[in-house]
Amino acid sequence: MGTGKFITRFFTAILLVASATAAVAEAREDVPIAIAIHGGAGTIEKSNMTPEKERAYRAKLEEAVNAGYRVLEKGGESLDAVIAAINVLENSPLFNAGKGAVYTYEGTHELDASIMDGRDRQAGAVAGVKRIANPINLARMVMEDSPFVMLSGAGAEEFARSRGVAMVDNQSFDTEQRRKQLEKAKEKLERENKQDKDYQAAVDALPIRYKMGTVGAVALDKNGNLAAGTSTGGMTAKRYGRIGDAPVIGAGTFADNRSCAVSATGHGEYFIRYNVAADICARVQYQDKSIATAADEVINRVLKPIGGTGGVIVLDPAGQVSLVFNTKGMYRGSRTSTSPVRVAIFDDEG
Ligand code: GLY
Repeated sequence: MGTGKFITRFFTAILLVASATAAVAEAREDVPIAIAIHGGAGTIEKSNMTPEKERAYRAKLEEAVNAGYRVLEKGGESLDAVIAAINVLENSPLFNAGKGAVYTYEGTHELDASIMDGRDRQAGAVAGVKRIANPINLARMVMEDSPFVMLSGAGAEEFARSRGVAMVDNQSFDTEQRRKQLEKAKEKLERENKQDKDYQAAVDALPIRYKMGTVGAVALDKNGNLAAGTSTGGMTAKRYGRIGDAPVIGAGTFADNRSCAVSATGHGEYFIRYNVAADICARVQYQDKSIATAADEVINRVLKPIGGTGGVIVLDPAGQVSLVFNTKGMYRGSRTSTSPVRVAIFDDEG
C-alpha cells in the first residue's frame, strides 16, 4: 500500500470511530434522567430566616439532589436514587424526617415512610416506627422482601429486626428546635381545647409549620422507570397513633411509568381524603393532562379552597419536573439531563 493510500485509510478509520462515539453519546443524551426532591412546605418566609439558616437549607437540598442524580448518572435505578436523596434529608436535623422529626404529644417520635416503583406499582410502607434511623429503607424492604405493602409500629420493627436492621434509640431523633415546637403546640392546643372536645379544630388551628417538613423524592432512570418515596415524622403533637399521608400509597406517594411519579408534603389528613398523589397521575393518564396542569388543579383548585395546605413534586416519563404548592414556600430542588441542579425555598423563586 502506498503512503497516500495508508494515510487516507488511517484518517477514514479515525473518522468512523469518532462518528460512532458521537452517535453513542447522542443516544445517551436522548435518554432523559431526572430527580426532584422536597423538604416540606409551609409558611417559609425570608423575613423569618437567618442567612446562615437559609444557606444551610440550600446546601442540604443541593446535597440531596446531587446524591440522587449521581446514582442516575452512573446508570443506577430510580429506586436507588430516591433512597439516596431521601437518606440525606432523613439524616439532617433540618427536616421533619429521621433525625429532626417532630414530637408526638407524649414527647416521642413516630415515623412514617413509603416508596413506589413505577414499573409495576410495587410499593412498600411503614407507619409509626420509633426505632428505625432511615424509615424509607425499611419501606423498600417491605416492598422487596415481604408479601405486604404496609407494616406498622412494633410489627414493622420486628420485621426490621428479622432482616438485620439495627435499632436506634427514639431519643436519637431529638432536636431542641422540635422540642420547643412541641411545647408551643401543646400550650396552644390546651388553651384552645380545654375540654378535649374538638381536638381536630385545635389541630387545624395550629400554625402550618407544626404540620410540615416531610421529605420526598421522585426519580426517572435511564431505563425510563419512575419511582417515588416520602418520609416524615408527621405532625407536631400528633396523638392516638395518628398516621398521615406519607405512608399511604396514592395519598403521599405514587408512581406509575404510564403517567407520573409524585411525592407530597402537607396536612396529611387532606392528602389522604383527596388521594392527592394518585389523583394527579390519574388526570395525566386518563385526561391526557400535563403534570403541571394536573398538579395545579389538585393542589390549587381542589385542596386550597377546602383548607388543604401543602405541595407536591411531580416527574413524568419524559423527564419533565413540576413543583407545585399552595403555601408561602416549599423546600425543593431538581436536576435533569437537560437542566443543572436547582434548589429553591420561597414562593417567588422560579
Ligand atoms: N404530610 C405529613 C403528615 O401529615 O403526616
